[in-house]
Amino acid sequence: MRTLLDLDPKGKRVLVRVDYNVPIQGGKVQDETRILESLPTLRHLLEGGASLVLLSHLGRPKGPDPKHSLAPVGEALKAHIPEARFAPFLPGSEEARREAEALRPGEVLLLENVRFEPGEEKNDPELAARYARLGEAFVLDAFGSAHRAHASVVGVARLLPAYAGFLMEKEVKALSRLLQDPERPYAVVLGGAKVSDKIGVIESLLPRIDRLLIGGAMAFTFLKALGKEVGKSLVEEDRLDLAQDLLRRAEGLGVRVYLPEDVVAAERIEAGVETRLFPAEAIPIPYMGLDIGPKTREAFARALEGARTVFWNGPMGVFEVPPFDEGTLAVGRAIASLEGAFTVVGGGDSVAAVNRLGLKDRFSHVSTGGGASLEFLEKGTLPGIEVLK
Ligand code: 3PG
Repeated sequence: MRTLLDLDPKGKRVLVRVDYNVPIQGGKVQDETRILESLPTLRHLLEGGASLVLLSHLGRPKGPDPKHSLAPVGEALKAHIPEARFAPFLPGSEEARREAEALRPGEVLLLENVRFEPGEEKNDPELAARYARLGEAFVLDAFGSAHRAHASVVGVARLLPAYAGFLMEKEVKALSRLLQDPERPYAVVLGGAKVSDKIGVIESLLPRIDRLLIGGAMAFTFLKALGKEVGKSLVEEDRLDLAQDLLRRAEGLGVRVYLPEDVVAAERIEAGVETRLFPAEAIPIPYMGLDIGPKTREAFARALEGARTVFWNGPMGVFEVPPFDEGTLAVGRAIASLEGAFTVVGGGDSVAAVNRLGLKDRFSHVSTGGGASLEFLEKGTLPGIEVLK
């Protein structure tokens, strides 16, 4: 990839695609990680004498929608870069172009959500051309969006001299270590609701790893495929054969698979609801498994012992509803306590768990990409990387 060091920013208006798809509540940004992670690139360009036009998406709006405005992000950004201001213009509009052209070196303009533009997700070439008029060079630093071949990621990169930002470089370097000569033993911890979201990454990683730990609701599809009683737990009935096939392949490759031994269950997903503990293979109706139980937490911690490389994506239970967050927190602690291992975590809930534990610094790399990190591990590249080559 061409990187920032290949670009002389002096006197240039640089268009930067960032990923400011951050959680917002009551008009306030709840987690600034993605904003903070973009600052090294922005500061480098500003110190080099550039002015900046920033593009980002937020959420998945279908057209302009005040609920998905980037205005709160503009406020949060200003606290770190006082020269930054938000202008509520559609990024492909004439007003946006005029504002951009009036920028002086050192100034930063954040435009409105790119997904308010109907052509954004279709990678409309005409929209990409309008974006291209906003700057003289393009920097892609939105690693979290680099798996989206959209107009503000891929389309515009083809029309301007294009470079990878520092965050993009850092992510690709760290995640590449999970694919190229990883130190063994290599353990992967996967959670979340659906096996179907993780098939690609499991297939890509199985031949490279030694241990696969599966938690979250996706574990019930595997348990049911093995003939266990999972009560009312979430199961992807149409993926039972696939789950069986993955388990067979793992066995053939000598990968040890760890599934939950016990689960915390309830009749409903509700904070403070009465919970019961059951063996994972015998959950009676009407209960559903909502978190890994204490025996599993210990077994998973033991399975991680001695690992030299660890990748973790996905919560072990319904992380957003306590007490079903405890298994995820326990796994976060277990990985953070590994000495000398190369440890990477990606994905919203697992990263939130690490942040809540205050253990971010105990991980070798905390990815800002959920879907992007999984797709990178599946394919070894992303549309946003290819376009910078
Ligand atoms: C993310 O949060 O994973 C990225 O910002 C991508 O968002 P998307 O899945 O809506 O494209």
